[in-house]
Amino acid sequence: MDVVRTVGDLRARIGDWRGHGHGVGLVPTMGALHEGHLSLVRQSLAETNRTCVTLFVNPRQFGPGEDLSTYPRDEASDMEKVSKLGAHLLFAPTAEEMYPPGAATRVSVPGLGDELEGTHRPDFFTGVATVVAKLLLQALPDAAFFGEKDYQQLLVIRRMTADLDIPVTIRSGPTVREADGLALSSRNAYLTPGERAIAPALHRALIQVAEEVRAGGDPAAACKEATGRILEAGFQKVDYVEARDAATFKPIADASNPSRVLAAAWLGRARLIDNLAI
Ligand code: PAF
Repeated sequence: MDVVRTVGDLRARIGDWRGHGHGVGLVPTMGALHEGHLSLVRQSLAETNRTCVTLFVNPRQFGPGEDLSTYPRDEASDMEKVSKLGAHLLFAPTAEEMYPPGAATRVSVPGLGDELEGTHRPDFFTGVATVVAKLLLQALPDAAFFGEKDYQQLLVIRRMTADLDIPVTIRSGPTVREADGLALSSRNAYLTPGERAIAPALHRALIQVAEEVRAGGDPAAACKEATGRILEAGFQKVDYVEARDAATFKPIADASNPSRVLAAAWLGRARLIDNLAI
């Protein structure tokens, strides 16, 4: 597997693949790769001829006081993991390569990008939409792969690519979980052993909401009860538990259309997010 660090080299390598008639898959990541990321790489390898993984801790999606400086980084181990799987190229640019001096343009997705995660992390989705738009335009892949663990992010990226007519298919992969239900996340590394034991309570609370709503219960009441259970389990703060339409992201009154329950909560230093299909 080759590693490139400049947009010019990335384009040259992908241009070469295109010249040979290969279809291209892109798997954008911020590194600290776990099985969730690796499952997306496998999906890309299965669905396209050439897979490029990107590794870039995007400063623009971190707000003031967030964990940009401590976000887990281990490029050598990430490189080994994706290379072992058979990925063809790793694009690991510097911040200066992605945002040269003077870079000013931002891509924002108002509405969808302002709710739930957007309320609690006001810079987040503009940072994500900006970097993903850049990566897609740099690589021009046929398909790009994102995890359902970040469900709202997935919808923001789908909206952004449709609105900007970026010719790419956005594919998603299911959340990968530990045996006790905790969704894999690079930020799980922040959990102490005691917090790690508490963490699956978030997933359990979401399962209960999904079951109650499926059985005809009121979504808002089920989410409120779930908030209480998450706090009782030992989380310090719940940012939200909400049931939303899976496509429009509007609050739901019942389970008549495909929908998701989504949550974010603080456990020690870690802000954990998770979601489930209702
Ligand atoms: O989900 C992530 O890891 C990031 O938000 C992404 C999509 C790679 C953009 O930096």
